[in-house]
Amino acid sequence: MCGISGIVGFKNIAMPLLNSIRHLEYRGYDSCGVAIMSNNSIVVRKNIGSVDEVNEREKLSEPDGKIGIAHTRWATHGGVTKENTHPHLSCEGDFALVHNGIISNYSEIKKELIHGGHRFNSETDTEVIVHLIEKYFVLSKDAEKAFIRALKRLEGTYAIAMITTHEKDKIFCAKRESPLVIGLGDEINYLGSDFNAFIDYTKNAVVLDDDEYAVVSRDHYFIKKIISGEVIRKRITEINWDSDMAKKGGYPHYMLKEIYEQPQCIVNAMQVDKALIKKLSDMIMKSRHVYLIGAGTTYYVSLMSEYHFSSIAGVFTPAINSDEFKNLAYIDKDTLIIAVSQSGETYDTLNALKFAKGKGAKTAAIVNVMGSSIARLVDHTIMQGSGPEICVISTKAALSQMAILLLVALEMAVNNKRISVRNKNEIEKQISHLPELIQKVLNEKSGFIHTIANKFSHINNWLYLGRGKYYPIALESSLKMKEVAYVHAEGMPAGFLKHGTIALIDEKLYSVIFMPPRSDEELYRLTAGSAEEIKARKGFTLGFHFGEKGEGEKLFSEEIILPKAHSIIAPFLELVVAQLFAYFTAVALKRNIDKPRSLAKSVTVA
Ligand code: AGP
Ligand code: GLU
Repeated sequence: MCGISGIVGFKNIAMPLLNSIRHLEYRGYDSCGVAIMSNNSIVVRKNIGSVDEVNEREKLSEPDGKIGIAHTRWATHGGVTKENTHPHLSCEGDFALVHNGIISNYSEIKKELIHGGHRFNSETDTEVIVHLIEKYFVLSKDAEKAFIRALKRLEGTYAIAMITTHEKDKIFCAKRESPLVIGLGDEINYLGSDFNAFIDYTKNAVVLDDDEYAVVSRDHYFIKKIISGEVIRKRITEINWDSDMAKKGGYPHYMLKEIYEQPQCIVNAMQVDKALIKKLSDMIMKSRHVYLIGAGTTYYVSLMSEYHFSSIAGVFTPAINSDEFKNLAYIDKDTLIIAVSQSGETYDTLNALKFAKGKGAKTAAIVNVMGSSIARLVDHTIMQGSGPEICVISTKAALSQMAILLLVALEMAVNNKRISVRNKNEIEKQISHLPELIQKVLNEKSGFIHTIANKFSHINNWLYLGRGKYYPIALESSLKMKEVAYVHAEGMPAGFLKHGTIALIDEKLYSVIFMPPRSDEELYRLTAGSAEEIKARKGFTLGFHFGEKGEGEKLFSEEIILPKAHSIIAPFLELVVAQLFAYFTAVALKRNIDKPRSLAKSVTVA
């Protein structure tokens, strides 16, 4: 993870550099720092804590300079200490470097460098890179050559930015598997792990691909291949997000803002180009094996879509956790992998796609970030258009992905002659009511959900139970509770309970029951049966249901009643309730909502 940025301009860049890591902080936030070329030498300011905390102590924007790099860290190698914080300096202080990724052969390089007299100040894998560059510079007296020679020694993954006193107007950067983007301004250029680093200053960007390096000065840049030195010319990408979309807009947290943006996100999802939906549906129909993949939340989105594809279109497409993909999937040339990823940078998902591509499989993806590695890697991309999701906890992106894949299921169902075009239009009409129903839940239920969350914020363990499509919803809802409130919540098929877990039930175990509407007769009856099993053992049940007040008195100790909804969209509404429940529980427990401990927005390491 980690956020990288760099700026080279014609006047003092210290303040915009500080802003750039503020906007990248969601990528990693245990420590941060800057390296600025000031009066011909490199000044490094860094420490542990959030950008604002470190700035308070270290005055990150104080050094005056026209070129600098910055970093916000999510530690992989070496604890969260000032010494391990990036930027790292070479022995002589003439090179400063920031890195995102993992250098897997760092131990052997470190031994060699220590043997050669280099002194290390940190336990990170990163620090070997800057000493290696220093070593090769002593031999060639050419910063670019030294940079490339060092890159060729590195195994693992990296996005790197480096400045040196030997080339005072250039940022050297390179990438392999971790993201890196150049932002093009007027007499000023930027570097970032993603667009957020410089979205306040420019909308024009160039995306680096794997095994490329670039040298960026204020009015010029070039990109070359690391191995061959071949010059690469790239299209300029125009960023269609604006910086206001990435601001909090009066909400106390991004998480709440993003939950409230969901009606609009579903409208956007419904407007995804029909030709793109059709193309994905055709790709699925033509393939012998199809897998949906994702990690964490996007695995649960995949699982939800597995239910939709199977029940609506009669096409069975197993959902696989990206990190288990290699161990589980059988792949041949007739295989299609559909990846789901908000960031488009998740290492496990990217790696699974590359593995499958290597075996000749076709690939497609639903992605939220333009120009991201996954968006560029796959044969077919659907951009979900949910706008920037800043909170580390995914809400609006996940809900939109579920909606888009539901549209794909409907398209396939027509293709498979399971429904007519007329049926499809009718169902789509039902889906088009989702934004107004989500709005109704937000307007009318938030206050009550807040009260319930306060009342039960002392509970340490929850079971989240659902059947059918409500099972992935239960899983995703439980993940929200774990990651934002640090409260244990275990998602499970309600029918699975009786096969063992039921032994846990007593008056101290609390459960959330995700009830379908009564129109889903069998599912309703079976889920109600599970609630009864719990009540019979004196367990506490919180029911999310679509019935009348008091209707679930026998089944539920407490209830949250949702507005009447068609069964196709009902699970989506329950997810919104669960998001709010997790959010308000986290508020009651005074958690770090937008940046929970130990998490990062895009997990770009294995
Ligand atoms: C979501 O709330 C989580 N923080 C996490 O599970 C996330 O969904 C996962 O890491 C996948 O990320 P992606 O969608 O960016 O690929
Ligand atoms: N491996 C580096 C460190 O631990 C960078 C970590 C990352 O990119 O997440 O400092």
